Amino acid sequence: MDRRELLKTMGILSGSLLISDYVAAQENATSTLMENGKDQLSIQEFQKYYQTDRSFTNLENGFFGVMSEPVLHKFIENTRTVNSRLSGFARLEFPKLYRDALILTGTYLKLPSNSFIFTRNATEALNVAIQGYPLAAGDEVVLSQFDYDSMVETWEMLQKTKKIKLVYLEIPAHPESAAQIVELYKNAVTSRTKIVHLTHINHFTGLILPIKEITDALKPSGVKTILDAAHSFAHIDYSITELGADIVAINLHKWFGSPVGTGLLYVKPELISAMNPLFGDVKQKENSIYKLAHFGTTPFANIMTIGAAMAFQQQIAPAVKQNYLHGLKKTWIDGVQHLSAVEVLTPVSPEWSCAIGAFRMRNMDAKKVVDQLWTAHKILGVVRNLKGGDCIRITPQIYNTTADSERLVKALTVLNNS
Ligand SMILES: Cc1ncc(COP(=O)(O)O)c(C=O)c1O
Repeated sequence: MDRRELLKTMGILSGSLLISDYVAAQENATSTLMENGKDQLSIQEFQKYYQTDRSFTNLENGFFGVMSEPVLHKFIENTRTVNSRLSGFARLEFPKLYRDALILTGTYLKLPSNSFIFTRNATEALNVAIQGYPLAAGDEVVLSQFDYDSMVETWEMLQKTKKIKLVYLEIPAHPESAAQIVELYKNAVTSRTKIVHLTHINHFTGLILPIKEITDALKPSGVKTILDAAHSFAHIDYSITELGADIVAINLHKWFGSPVGTGLLYVKPELISAMNPLFGDVKQKENSIYKLAHFGTTPFANIMTIGAAMAFQQQIAPAVKQNYLHGLKKTWIDGVQHLSAVEVLTPVSPEWSCAIGAFRMRNMDAKKVVDQLWTAHKILGVVRNLKGGDCIRITPQIYNTTADSERLVKALTVLNNS
């Protein structure tokens, strides 16, 4: 299905094409992108749909994403619908909308229908995967220092309760090649290894792992991979199944711009029967992915807004978005690389990183750097507790501009010279 057909399907399923709805409502204009016959928006046109507080420079967008105005508009409308028609809506109309959202998402992500469920976030998706995967005492799981703290905690919990063994490898901050990383993972695998846990884009330094190369190399061993793609989906351009991981968790509320409280879990269909539900369920079939999705009352409006986020993201080519985000990061890293007190922890090339970057200062602890950036320059970054020393993570979003990155360079130059 091409982009126009997908948009048409979205229009049919969601009852509207949101950009045209929004433009008509907000600007009293009737023309839409599709009607104009124009294929995609430029970054500058796309950015017009974001309204964020510019009284400070927010370079801490790794926490959660931003909804564009059309998506926010739809989310408010959906929330009003739920809140006015209550269980009359939830019982009688929502089930169809839920199925529509699943159909749209499956089409958009090219996922078989019995391979994914919606979750409230990546933590929930990964807990369902990690705690549901059949493991026994003595089984080994490979992790790295770049995996997300809460996921490592979940594995550590299973170390106690299931007596599994955790094997940690150390990934270099500035890898020499994809082959070097692949070797690290291959060497960590033993005859007892059952799972390799991978983080596509880590939340400390933003390093992108060569996932396809790793999963290809691990395939002959039969070891399964759980991929934490919380930070990579709709940030860098890839297709979930092409990465070759057995289980993948993504967030829709980071780079995709859905309301906070939207995530997704993909499990290779042939693995589903072996998985145990984390949330009690005995009614679904063994081989049904929905046995993993017994979460209770759903955030209705969130699910109903996924289609709107999808339609909005369709307005820009993923490669254009990725390029722009990478440029924002490159601008500040290139501007501070030469400063004597600054240690950059993120390789700048697009192969290894996109929007997220991190650094340390040799003459100041990370918390003080973040405080100084905020109090003296109104720039928001965040401290991340990375093994080997705290770092400052900088994450621009699509609404940020090169001027924001340059503001950071100026501020770090002042700190360097102080
Ligand atoms: C790499 C990674 N994995 C998982 C998560 C968890 O995401 P959430 O808090 O939305 O569940 C995050 C959150 O920032 C993350 O950066």
